[in-house]
Amino acid sequence: MLNPGWYEGREQALVKHTFLDTYMPAQIPKIVRWAGEFTYVDLFSGPWQSKSGDYSDTSFGIALRRMTEAKATQAKLGRKVRMVAHLVEKDTHNFAALTEAVKRFPEVETFCYSGVAEQHAATIASLIPKEAFRFVVIDPKGVPDVRTFKCLIQPDKTEVLLNFMFQFANRFASSQDRMPPLEGWLGGLSDEEGGWRRDFLMLKGAEREAAITDRARQALRKMGNYAYAPALTVDETAAERPLYKLIFLSRHPIGLLVFRDAHVKALETQATYKSVRRQEARRQQSGMDDLFADPTAINPGERSALEISDGLNAGREKVLELLAQKPEGLQWKTVWPAVLDACVVTYNQIGDCVRELREAAQIEVPDWTSSAIKRPKDDYWILPGR
Ligand SMILES: C[S@@+](CC[C@H](N)C(=O)[O-])C[C@H]1O[C@@H](n2cnc3c(N)ncnc32)[C@H](O)[C@@H]1O
Repeated sequence: MLNPGWYEGREQALVKHTFLDTYMPAQIPKIVRWAGEFTYVDLFSGPWQSKSGDYSDTSFGIALRRMTEAKATQAKLGRKVRMVAHLVEKDTHNFAALTEAVKRFPEVETFCYSGVAEQHAATIASLIPKEAFRFVVIDPKGVPDVRTFKCLIQPDKTEVLLNFMFQFANRFASSQDRMPPLEGWLGGLSDEEGGWRRDFLMLKGAEREAAITDRARQALRKMGNYAYAPALTVDETAAERPLYKLIFLSRHPIGLLVFRDAHVKALETQATYKSVRRQEARRQQSGMDDLFADPTAINPGERSALEISDGLNAGREKVLELLAQKPEGLQWKTVWPAVLDACVVTYNQIGDCVRELREAAQIEVPDWTSSAIKRPKDDYWILPGR
C-alpha cells in the first residue's frame, strides 16, 4: 500500500507508482500462466527522491516487491517461476543506493548497471531469453532518443511503459529550436520534416494535447508493431495542466484490460489528491473550516475525475456505435477490446454498462439467459436493440 505521505511535493510520482503498484500484481499471475520467466527492465531506475526508508516509493522497489510476492504465491500453487530484473542508473550516488536496496529482494535475480541506459540497452536485450515475458519501464527525467531502446521495445512478449515528457514536447512544438532526440522519433511519421510542428501550431488546449500525445503514441506503436498504445495523463501538482503522459504498449487485449484497471485507479488517486489540495487552499483563503466537507471527496470537475466520467459515457456510446455498424451483431470478445482501446473505461465498468443497456432494451444479448451472470461473457453475441 502506497503512503501518500511519502509523496508530498512530488505527487506526480504517487500517480505513476499507483499505476505500477496496480499493474504488477494484476499482470504477473496472468503472465506466469504461460511464461516461466517474468523480466522487469527499468532503464532509469533511481532511487529518486525516495522518502519511505525502504524504497517502497520507487519504481524498482514496487516492482521487486510485487515480483517477490507473486513468486511466493506461485510457489504455494506448486509453480516455479523465475523473476529477473535489469536496472540501470547513471548517477553514482543513486547507483550505490540501488545496489544496496536490491539486497532486500533476494528472490528476484537482479542485475544493476552503472552508466547510461543508452549504453546498456542492447546488452540487456541480448541477455533476456526469447521465451521470457518482459515489462520495460522507460522513465527518464528528460527526452532521450527512444529509438536507442528499440532493441527492448521490438521483441515479442513485451509490454512497455514510457514516460513521454509532454510538457517538453509541447513547448518544443511552439519553438524554432532543434531537439534532435525528440525530433528523431516523433518526426518518424512525417513525410515533410518539421511539418507536424506546423500542424500543432494551429491547435490549442485539449485538441493540441491530444494531437501531440497521439503522435507519440503512434510513433511508439509502430516501433514495435503494437496493437495498443493507450496513455495515462499525469498532471502538474499545482495546476490543471498535463506534465507527462505514461504511454503503455501491449499487443494483447488482456494487457489493455490490465492497463485500464491500473489507469483508472491512478486517475482516482490523482483526482483525490488534487481535490484535497483544492479544499485545503480554499480553507486557507477563507480562514474558515467547512465542518461538513468530506476531506477525501473527489471534486467531479477535476481533470482526472472528468476523464473517468467522460470515459464511461464515451464507452457506452462506442458500444452503440459499433453495433450500429454491424446490425447482425458482434461477439463480446470483439467489442470490449475496441471500446477499451478508444475510451478510458475498465472491463468491469463497460460490462456493467452493457448490462444496463440490455435492461433498457437498447441492445439484445440472447445468450445471456441467467440473471446470476452479472457481466457478459466473451462468447456472447451482442445485437442492436430492435
Ligand atoms: C525520473 S528518475 C526515475 C524515477 C524512477 N523510475 C521511479 O519512478 O522511482 C530518473 C533517474 O534516471 C537517472 N538517469 C538520468 N539519465 C540517465 C541515463 N541516461 N541512463 C540511466 N539513468 C539515467 C537519474 O539519475 C534518475 O535517478
